[in-house]
Amino acid sequence: MKVILVFVSTLDGKVTRWGDPDVKSWSSKYDQKYFRKIWDYSELIVMGSATYNVDPIKPSKKHLLVVMTREPEKYEKYEVAGTLEFKKESPVELFSHFEKRGYEAMVVVGGPHIATSFLKEGLVDELWLTIEPKIFGKGDSIVITKRLDINLQLISCEKVNEQGTLITKYLVLKK
Ligand SMILES: NC(=O)c1ccc[n+]([C@@H]2O[C@H](COP(=O)([O-])OP(=O)(O)OC[C@H]3O[C@@H](n4cnc5c(N)ncnc54)[C@H](OP(=O)(O)O)[C@@H]3O)[C@@H](O)[C@H]2O)c1
Repeated sequence: MKVILVFVSTLDGKVTRWGDPDVKSWSSKYDQKYFRKIWDYSELIVMGSATYNVDPIKPSKKHLLVVMTREPEKYEKYEVAGTLEFKKESPVELFSHFEKRGYEAMVVVGGPHIATSFLKEGLVDELWLTIEPKIFGKGDSIVITKRLDINLQLISCEKVNEQGTLITKYLVLKK
């Protein structure tokens, strides 16, 4: 099973403007359409509870959305088996669980805490990063401040609008 990490960031690597969770207020229209396509076509999507809580998503029969939380009991009333599930398993446990169930891809859509825990375990195969030509200075980064040393290789890079939004794909090189 391939694990793909998806983010939109600024040129200085910020995934929020000064910590404000509203990403749609600054990401380009192109990226929002692109992300919607990824969302609609993915069978298995994983996110952290903080990202889920920003804008709780209605369950969709098109895919399984897994929200990672250490307190799944808090979310019991929102659970729809097979569509919206709250899990306290670690990234490694989630990976092997869904790989055994035959999923071909797991799309991890953040936030930085969840991204870091998947990257630390060497579980991420590709990073699909939209780079918006902006600088925020302050804000959350793709990863939290932990010592990491990860090498990636550019697979593709496309300029998609006049301002120069870049849709990039990187392969995570395994050690
Ligand atoms: N620009 C982008 O592309 C993008 C994408 C996604 C998110 N964001 C932004 O990122 C922010 C949220 O990111 P975040 O890093 O604060 O939170 P997060 O990664 O979405 O969620 C972290 C939470 O997940 C739970 N959790 C369960 N298992 C975990 C594990 N193994 N490792 C870490 N956490 C685990 C914990 O909450 P419990 O208390 O429930 O256990 C933890 O506090 C928001 O502002 C959002 O808008 C931006």
